[in-house]
Amino acid sequence: MTKHWAGLLWVLSLSVFAQTAEPPASPAGADKAPTHRQLRLNAVPAEPPAPTAPETFAGYAQAPPFKVVPQKDKIALFPCSQCHKFMPPNPQPRKLEAAPHQAVLQHGKGRMWCLNCHLIDDRDYLHTVRGEKVDFDEAYLLCGQCHFNRQKDWYLGGHGKRVDNWQGDRLIYSCTHCHDPHSPATKPREPSKAPPVRAGLQRMKNVDHESNSVWQRNAARKAETANER
Ligand code: HEC
Ligand code: HEC
Ligand code: HEC
Ligand code: HEC
Repeated sequence: MTKHWAGLLWVLSLSVFAQTAEPPASPAGADKAPTHRQLRLNAVPAEPPAPTAPETFAGYAQAPPFKVVPQKDKIALFPCSQCHKFMPPNPQPRKLEAAPHQAVLQHGKGRMWCLNCHLIDDRDYLHTVRGEKVDFDEAYLLCGQCHFNRQKDWYLGGHGKRVDNWQGDRLIYSCTHCHDPHSPATKPREPSKAPPVRAGLQRMKNVDHESNSVWQRNAARKAETANER
């Protein structure tokens, strides 16, 4: 009989012990949702979507449609392949001693070479940095890769020149009509002569501003700030 009591006491003491062994009352706020999850509980990420072909620049939606004055027919040595299909292309930047054509580059301050623009295996075309073929008549697509803000202005009529009237089909000059791609900076030039004076009137005396004429001073200032553009 005492054995039974002893057994009961033992069980009771065990349960009391188990209660005291429980962790102390949780600190304030611990019953809220935890602020972080263990990383291993994160959902397994889905397969990444299959890579899509990069988008091709397709102009600006708000720009009125236009046509570009062709340039190709003005290139004397076109088609270039008449010689180049017989010559192995030489990608090495070098001084072009034997070229019967344009051979120096004053564009990009030495960081560019002919084949950044001209297609290596089909010299009758240009190419974008992604290797898309570009026709000589669409050179504005080439220029706009780097001069994108000028190109946007050009699309919207804020840069360049429209050839026909202000109404009707928009016909505009391509970049290369005005800029030589091999030396694109606008060169300072002497202004044309003043118009003749009306009969009976006399020309005003020259105002002596400074020693250099205005266009010469502007050219010098432009050279100074060339790096800021
Ligand atoms: C009458 C022949 C002839 C024609 C036409 C011609 N080229 Fe060339 N081109 C050459 C020669 C020769 C060289 C090599 C010059 C050298 O190595 O010094 C050359 C070199 C080049 C190079 C340097 C890279 C390379 O592969 O050697 C480029 C770029 C180039 N030509 C572009 C053109 C383009 C663009 C046209 C068309 C508008 C053109 N060429 C038309 C003869 C020609
Ligand atoms: C920034 C891009 C660019 C680079 C760099 C470049 N070209 Fe051109 N090149 C053009 C474009 C655009 C035209 C078309 C010009 C036009 O529409 O009148 C052209 C036209 C030509 C022509 C035919 C017209 C001409 O001016 O005689 C030759 C030849 C030529 N390039 C050779 C070269 C050679 C050689 C080099 C390297 C020394 C070179 N190009 C570097 C963009 C470039
Ligand atoms: C790969 C990039 C690249 C492409 C493509 C390119 N340019 Fe440039 N261009 C430059 C850089 C860089 C400069 C500034 C360095 C310098 O003055 O040479 C520059 C300078 C110029 C300038 C200002 C020059 C000055 O000093 O006032 C004009 C204008 C210009 N580019 C027109 C063009 C035209 C037109 C084309 C297309 C036939 C073209 N660029 C294509 C990179 C590029
Ligand atoms: C009708 C002629 C014309 C056309 C077309 C034209 N430009 Fe220009 N561009 C100019 C003139 C003029 C300037 C002003 C030069 C200056 O500020 O001294 C200029 C300035 C620039 C300059 C700055 C150069 C500088 O010296 O500050 C860049 C870059 C340029 N153009 C790129 C382009 C590109 C790219 C296109 C084609 C999308 C284009 N241009 C079309 C005439 C033209």
